[in-house]
Amino acid sequence: MYLQIHQTSEEASQAVADLIIHRIRAFSPTQYRKFVLGLPTGGTPVRAYEILAERCEAGDISFEHVISINLDEYVGLPPTHEQSYVQFMEKHFDIPPSQTHILPGIPITPTPNAMAIPSSSGGQDNNSPLEAHQASCAAYEALITSLGGINLLFMGIGANGHIGFNEPGSSFASRTRVVALNEGTRDANSRFFDDKSKVPTHALSMGLGTILDAEEIVVLAMGSNKGDAIQRAVEEGINHMCPASVLQQHARVTIVADGLASSKLKEETKDYLGSSQSLYSGAGLLNDSTHHQNRIKANLANGTTLAHVSHDNDFVVVVEDRSADENAGERGKPVITLLAKGDIQYESSEDGDDPHCLPGL
Ligand code: PGA
Repeated sequence: MYLQIHQTSEEASQAVADLIIHRIRAFSPTQYRKFVLGLPTGGTPVRAYEILAERCEAGDISFEHVISINLDEYVGLPPTHEQSYVQFMEKHFDIPPSQTHILPGIPITPTPNAMAIPSSSGGQDNNSPLEAHQASCAAYEALITSLGGINLLFMGIGANGHIGFNEPGSSFASRTRVVALNEGTRDANSRFFDDKSKVPTHALSMGLGTILDAEEIVVLAMGSNKGDAIQRAVEEGINHMCPASVLQQHARVTIVADGLASSKLKEETKDYLGSSQSLYSGAGLLNDSTHHQNRIKANLANGTTLAHVSHDNDFVVVVEDRSADENAGERGKPVITLLAKGDIQYESSEDGDDPHCLPGL
């Protein structure tokens, strides 16, 4: 697990948008090899989606060969309902409907006489038969498999540690299924509805097992109400009462948090989990707080700027951008230096013939 902390929510949203763009570009999707992007709804992703739309407009990224697949949907809301996630995605994420997949809140082919899920009014809602929903969930799992799996799954986190709509107590092996929403979650989401009684009591959600199957995961957490969940997910043991803690078992997770959402983490945690950018991400993002960066900056050669720093528990990768150095000539190429903490282990330029020294950290 890697941690990226940004002072403001704007910077955190920017970082997630940058990471998504970087991953899609690095994948170079084509008509025959699409990039599968898992996406959330809620308040968290809205700014990141705006940034992605701006970057798309500016020609920095194309979603032409991207398939999006959403994490969850409310049970009982038709796709025309303004709070359905179908409407949310149409409003916030500009991708043709033919490239978008969202679980159906109302089953497309209801099964007559199937067991019904209780409606929020306590009665039986005959429009939401359980078996039909289960069939939709099974079809969604098959769809993900047929797409070749999810390349990058972007998620928020609930104040109770849920991911998707996997509430505390969800099995780590769970697959896409019907879930009952926790009262705290319905309270939190009532801000999007006229009143809490209108918030559905159930949802369809990718399971924790489904989420763990994604090739890479990025979680965005912003605001002080996410502080406890982030602290429990990152610093405490893996426990089903904090579903996000299961991400500790995933090989490629980045948690991007703003100052408030990360405020309950120990300094030691921030240091261990990479207070700058993950080693493999390469999105050119800089963290504002790491003391390593100040030490690196103080030691850069004249005419160079720090383009990128990544660090893992053992290594720090520094990329110097010397393109603005008029005297550099061939030396204007970026220099990549791999340092072991406390010592220089290895150094080389991108083209291998221009070694450049930086002091150990
Ligand atoms: P929020 O919800 O983005 O509306 O805060 C996040 C979540 O519940 O996963």
